[in-house]
Amino acid sequence: MTRSTVALDDVTVNNLGTFKIINEVCLPTTYPDSWYENSVKLPSEVSQLAFYSELPVGAIQGKLINLSHKIPSFEVATSILMNTKLKIVHDALYIESLAVLPAYRGKGVGSKLLEWIIEQTKERFVHEIALHVHVDNKEAIEWYKKKGFQQQEEVVKDYYKQQELPNPDAYIFKMTV
Ligand SMILES: CC(C)(COP(=O)(O)OP(=O)(O)OC[C@H]1O[C@@H](n2cnc3c(N)ncnc32)[C@H](O)[C@@H]1OP(=O)(O)O)[C@@H](O)C(=O)NCCC(=O)NCCS
Repeated sequence: MTRSTVALDDVTVNNLGTFKIINEVCLPTTYPDSWYENSVKLPSEVSQLAFYSELPVGAIQGKLINLSHKIPSFEVATSILMNTKLKIVHDALYIESLAVLPAYRGKGVGSKLLEWIIEQTKERFVHEIALHVHVDNKEAIEWYKKKGFQQQEEVVKDYYKQQELPNPDAYIFKMTV
């Protein structure tokens, strides 16, 4: 890695603490340790750390989900009766966290993490990315718009209530990839 370049690497058990610190410095949301442990345990979690001049400065985590909820009730019933696990078809990647340390913003780190997760999404034959943004997070709102995300009409009331933010509502942004 040469100086002043952005490089990416996997989140592992050895750097989970770094991932946690980056999120805690940048985000209003606090995740329990189990959330971080799942990053390296669950195949549905997609995460990456970003380094600037070899310093860890950013991180992204997405989760493969089913947005459409089009699972036929017959299948659900059958799976319960047969005591088998229902195989959920993932049709979207939900960005759970994206954070870059304040001193390293505007240097292309967030863009590189977003490009990476877009590629990961496509590699998994999934073509939609979705996320929530706090209604007062004007910078992130403008940033996501610039990146091609579309703000949905719906406002999610009290999404950030647990974080005790003065205005706890969230917007949903989506992009087809
Ligand atoms: C949102 C965030 C991840 C962006 O990361 P970043 O590393 O600063 O972003 P980049 O440097 O890659 O952005 C570069 C591009 O975005 C543009 N940009 C940067 N800040 C912007 C802003 N506030 N509004 C609009 N565009 C912006 C740059 O002009 C540049 O455009 P270009 O690619 O056309 O040259 C970062 O600001 C952050 O961590 N914010 C706090 C946490 C947060 O709000 N996360 C999202 C919550 S869901």
